[in-house]
Amino acid sequence: MNEGAQQVRVVVVGAGFAADFHLASYQRIYGVDVEVVGIASRTRSKAEALAKRYGVPRVYSDLSAVLEDPDVNVVDLCVPVHLHGEMAVAVAKAGKHVICEKPLVGYVGQGSTPKMEMYRQVVQNLNSIRGAFESNGVRLLYAENWIYAPAIRRGMELMEASGGTILDIRGYESHSGSASEFSKRWETSGGGALLRLGIHPLSVAIYLKQWEGLRRGGKPIHVRDVYGQVANLSKIPTFQDTERQWLATGWQDVENWSLSVLTFEDDTVAVISASDIALGGVENGLEVYLSNARVKCNLDPNTTCQAYAPDPSVFAGVFLNEKLEAASGWSFPTVDHEWVSGYQKELQDFAEAVATDRPPVSGLDLAEEVITVAYALYVSAEWGRRVSLRELNDHL
Ligand SMILES: NC(=O)c1ccc[n+]([C@@H]2O[C@H](COP(=O)([O-])OP(=O)(O)OC[C@H]3O[C@@H](n4cnc5c(N)ncnc54)[C@H](OP(=O)(O)O)[C@@H]3O)[C@@H](O)[C@H]2O)c1
Repeated sequence: MNEGAQQVRVVVVGAGFAADFHLASYQRIYGVDVEVVGIASRTRSKAEALAKRYGVPRVYSDLSAVLEDPDVNVVDLCVPVHLHGEMAVAVAKAGKHVICEKPLVGYVGQGSTPKMEMYRQVVQNLNSIRGAFESNGVRLLYAENWIYAPAIRRGMELMEASGGTILDIRGYESHSGSASEFSKRWETSGGGALLRLGIHPLSVAIYLKQWEGLRRGGKPIHVRDVYGQVANLSKIPTFQDTERQWLATGWQDVENWSLSVLTFEDDTVAVISASDIALGGVENGLEVYLSNARVKCNLDPNTTCQAYAPDPSVFAGVFLNEKLEAASGWSFPTVDHEWVSGYQKELQDFAEAVATDRPPVSGLDLAEEVITVAYALYVSAEWGRRVSLRELNDHL
């Protein structure tokens, strides 16, 4: 790293699933003077356990103590979605950079609220967040790991080499649902499968067209209009109680299936699906159809390592693949989860961005377009027709 690079002193907020893989990834950052100096979470005992596991020296009981700590220049938000906006603004006002897990914000309220009202509030919230970051001279580092996944980055090298036009993008994320209770209620999650799962391939589709536009014409290509459809497939009458043993249920006012169709300003398209009702482990991927090539990016599962067990007891207690229900038969054990998912490269980029005072690869501009498009998709699903972003913005 350059002489004069800043030290990076991070506090992770939250002590759950995401905090764990962030902490594992910080340990692998190289060439930057970075240290996780503390963990702040609601349940102190969980923060202490995680701090012990990763050798983190301090535990804070709440965010206000972190904001007053002059040693800390980065706060990494690994908390439920309803806390993102408010915490990000508080941290920015304290003059510290923010790493924020996806999605940047969500509508915090009941799922029955008219979706246009959600869109309006989310856009207002995004404007306040931008204001807080710009006026305090700090950066928003948007933790969308798919942007950094090695399969996507390798695919981008090939797309650039081809010189072709990205005509059609197909992306998907699916698995058998979430164990996290906050994901089942709109007021803590901001939405269902579309916002929680679909947002990953949706972000990459948006990012790729922005990138193509900048690279070839000096200006990003944005989404022009959207068509969305959502469903709650575990609440249909034919889904019987006896079928409930494998899929997550208990969804309250959020969808567990979504389809998103995007049309970009240059008339090209993307189709993204997301599902919480897919057995067999997580399936994450993206396929890009160019004018002169086709690229498939396979995040999960992949076949680098394959294993067979005649009985689940053979691999008892071993992590094979995210959300895999049974460890018998053939499986595709994930190889280096932090690397393959993009978490490692993401935190490397964020640490370098802060140390050298440069923008991150994934920042506020991307986060804003992604959230705006996601809520436009909810409006489209409710209205039952394709909507343009211009039309929605005229309603604001
Ligand atoms: N990029 C990805 O692949 C990925 C994957 C999963 C999640 N995420 C994102 O990561 C974020 C966290 O999700 P998760 O799965 O880690 O959830 P989780 O396992 O439920 O953990 C959430 C943590 O936040 C803590 N918390 C709740 N309210 C708090 C407050 N007011 N102040 C401080 N801490 C508080 C919880 O404390 P308690 O222990 O007291 O409940 C818990 O430790 C979400 O935004 C989610 O979208 C991203």
